[in-house]
Amino acid sequence: MSLLGIADLDRVGLETLVESATAMKTDPSRNAGILAGRSIGLFFAKQSLRTWVSCDVAAIQLGAHPLAIRDDTAGMGTRESAADVGRVLARYLDLLAMRVHDHSDLVEIDKWTEIPVVNLLSNLEHPCQAVADLQTIAEHRPLPGARITYLGDGNNVCHSLMLAGATLGADIVVGCPPGYEPDDELMTMARSREGTVTIVHDPEEATRGAEVVYTDVWASMGQESETELRRRHFAPFQVNEKLFALADPEAIFMHCLPAHRGEEVSNVMMDHPRSVVFDQAENRLHAFKAILVDQLDMRDNAGRC
Ligand code: CP
Ligand code: NVA
Repeated sequence: MSLLGIADLDRVGLETLVESATAMKTDPSRNAGILAGRSIGLFFAKQSLRTWVSCDVAAIQLGAHPLAIRDDTAGMGTRESAADVGRVLARYLDLLAMRVHDHSDLVEIDKWTEIPVVNLLSNLEHPCQAVADLQTIAEHRPLPGARITYLGDGNNVCHSLMLAGATLGADIVVGCPPGYEPDDELMTMARSREGTVTIVHDPEEATRGAEVVYTDVWASMGQESETELRRRHFAPFQVNEKLFALADPEAIFMHCLPAHRGEEVSNVMMDHPRSVVFDQAENRLHAFKAILVDQLDMRDNAGRC
């Protein structure tokens, strides 16, 4: 079935993952050992802390055997083609989860392999992050009608949050400088779902009344050469106490992490009483457990993961 992007999930599928992730958190022994004998590949062509460790632990808690595969060893695209890497790995593994530079590599590998392929971040999307994000938001308020403001670059994290939020009926506002809007095609897709998507170029207007204020780094992995330019363009979009004061009094602050304190988020905001960034990081574990059970077709008779 594979999970390359949020578009692979309909409303019920996404709702089930979020509910299952919550159930995994409530009962960490839920589904313990259910994946005994399965081998899960975790392939990384870029750096990672949360994704690598949470996916590794998730697989272990479910009884599976995780294998981390680093691209500096594998040489995808240099030593052999992405399709060949995928076809070889599929002969050993039951599921292949991958962090790649180019989303088209995931699409190509998925085309050539029978096993589920899961996107652990590409230039286009970060769907596992979005499942954990929705789980985190649902811990504070119902998702339908939630006013979620994402401030910063219209990047992979923004795309998956926008699509996932809109799928479950949230109202998404993306506040970004002109030229840094989300991808047009993904925006159109998000707008065809239940919620709304609005693009705003004024950070104060974007934040006013928000129930969730979310940000991510201004320069993603691979965009390091643009760091200085982006610092100038994004400076007014820093989430700090002054900007956050415009949000709903009950608003929460979110960041997928890693954070660059003093750039996209102030130091004070990271440690603010309404910051849920470390709950969000924890939820990556529960969300990936739900994704593994779902992808490996181990739902119970009621369809729950
Ligand atoms: N949020 C996230 O994906 O973190 P890592 O890059 O550390 O995996
Ligand atoms: N947008 C960031 C997210 C890191 C989790 C990146 O791609 O580097």
